[in-house]
Amino acid sequence: MIQGKQLYEGKAKKVFETDDPELLIVSYKDDATAFNGLKKGTIQGKGVINNKMSNALMRMLEKKGIPTHFVEELSERDTLVRRVKIVPLEVIIRNISAGSFAKHYGVEEGIVFDAPTIEFSYKNDELGDPLLNEYHALALKLATKEEIETIKDYSFRVNEALKEFWLSCGVTLVDFKLEFGRLSDGTIVLADEISPDTCRLWDSKTHEKLDKDRFRRDMGGVEDAYREIMGRMEKQIGED
Ligand code: TMP
Ligand code: ASP
Repeated sequence: MIQGKQLYEGKAKKVFETDDPELLIVSYKDDATAFNGLKKGTIQGKGVINNKMSNALMRMLEKKGIPTHFVEELSERDTLVRRVKIVPLEVIIRNISAGSFAKHYGVEEGIVFDAPTIEFSYKNDELGDPLLNEYHALALKLATKEEIETIKDYSFRVNEALKEFWLSCGVTLVDFKLEFGRLSDGTIVLADEISPDTCRLWDSKTHEKLDKDRFRRDMGGVEDAYREIMGRMEKQIGED
């Protein structure tokens, strides 16, 4: 696979064309941002961890019938993915109160929900990714009704699969963000990444944060947390 010109550089990844118009290469960086880019930093080794972790989780989800953009891991930081047009909706699933949910509704972090919640935000950095509901998404023509149904179905199934997997690693999946894309024939597939950048992952016993919240909240031990969570995943996958 020949790496072509850079199409795009995001906050955490670069995207390159390849000699196949249907395939792209994603390259994971160590750069970290928070609060819509206001806070900037580096998490040493994050790109390597997020690449590996996201690919392993996407492979697992494919086996459970969730179509994803993942094709092949090319190197420590680079992965071949199917070219998609990203649906400009960020999908957030929550199992436990934390982050903006706790803030918006004035509750403490750590309340376990009876059933998971779903919310959408409009993926638009200039507007600060505002929250919206399905009717707003339809009004803005961000996706069709059928696409939104598919995205919701996949998102809850992803939650069940990830919750079960992380639990087997002694980790509680608190919440996470997903993005979906359309292949050239319009098929909806899971895209972007699933990593400690995009999930809240707490040690099941101690509730220690093993994710990007350590960076967002200046808690220290950021690199150690990424290494710890990756180590737990590798141990578990190795044992399967
Ligand atoms: P929130 O509680 O700040 O709304 O975040 C919910 C989840 O979404 C959390 O696991 C972190 C993830 N997330 C992203 O992946 N990207 C973002 O830009 C934000 C704000 C959150
Ligand atoms: N990556 C997002 C940003 O920089 C925010 C986050 O993950 O908290 O804005």
